[in-house]
Amino acid sequence: MIKRLLNFNSSRYRLWQENAAFAATIPQGALVLDAGAGEAPYRSLFQHTRYESADFHKVNKPYAPSTYVCDLKSIPVEDNRFDVIVFNQVMEHLPEPVLVLNELYRVLKPGGKMIYTGPLFYEEHEQPYDFYRYTQFALRYLFTTTGFVIERIDWLEGYFGTVGYQLNGMARYLPYRPRAIGAGIAGYGLAPILLLLKIVFATLSIAFHALETRIKFTARGYPKNYVAIVRKPVPVEQPE
Ligand SMILES: C[S@@+](CC[C@H](N)C(=O)[O-])C[C@H]1O[C@@H](n2cnc3c(N)ncnc32)[C@H](O)[C@@H]1O
Repeated sequence: MIKRLLNFNSSRYRLWQENAAFAATIPQGALVLDAGAGEAPYRSLFQHTRYESADFHKVNKPYAPSTYVCDLKSIPVEDNRFDVIVFNQVMEHLPEPVLVLNELYRVLKPGGKMIYTGPLFYEEHEQPYDFYRYTQFALRYLFTTTGFVIERIDWLEGYFGTVGYQLNGMARYLPYRPRAIGAGIAGYGLAPILLLLKIVFATLSIAFHALETRIKFTARGYPKNYVAIVRKPVPVEQPE
């Protein structure tokens, strides 16, 4: 139970919410590409669509079966194939994001939409395939220079979620064994204080994650992730 509470991450709640709201705007039978699908956690939200997925399957972790096992720089499909692209928590893992955005643009139909989510503030993960973190300005620059039109860029979670994440990290990673701190009087003196702090941080982390699911506070602080909805424009026909 305590382990489950400690593992609760309000970002996953917000990711589910955003993907569900996006999926609800997608018409029945639309062709969807989940780019960098991993375990395909949002697949069930797209049951009313024709769902395909692409991933390079190179990280040592479980994967759902992918329609295309490929690098996202080169997806083996024709131009303008997909009505919709789902692109969650992937761009930070790409050494050359512009090449992948160009490829996603190529395979998306004119008028087609893409949901992006990705971290501004998160520890290294899926090593060694972890390259960048993106500010809202970097996202704006990357999407517009690759041809996409931005419908919205927003904080994925509010600051309570960011604080919950930070507290959770402190509860997990701070040392509490005297030898890990350097032994001696300082080590033995600090160890009980750090142990107590870890318990306090863990409790506060659970409280802040729970708060995030009720209140999205965005007036101050910074998000852990951004969410964006972007579109491939329909070319304007020039009169003869
Ligand atoms: C953090 S996971 C996110 C998975 C899933 N989209 C989600 O939201 O849970 C990043 C995924 O991107 C995939 N990936 C990273 N670099 C890739 C690349 N160059 N081409 C294809 N897939 C890639 C990884 O295999 C991994 O499954």
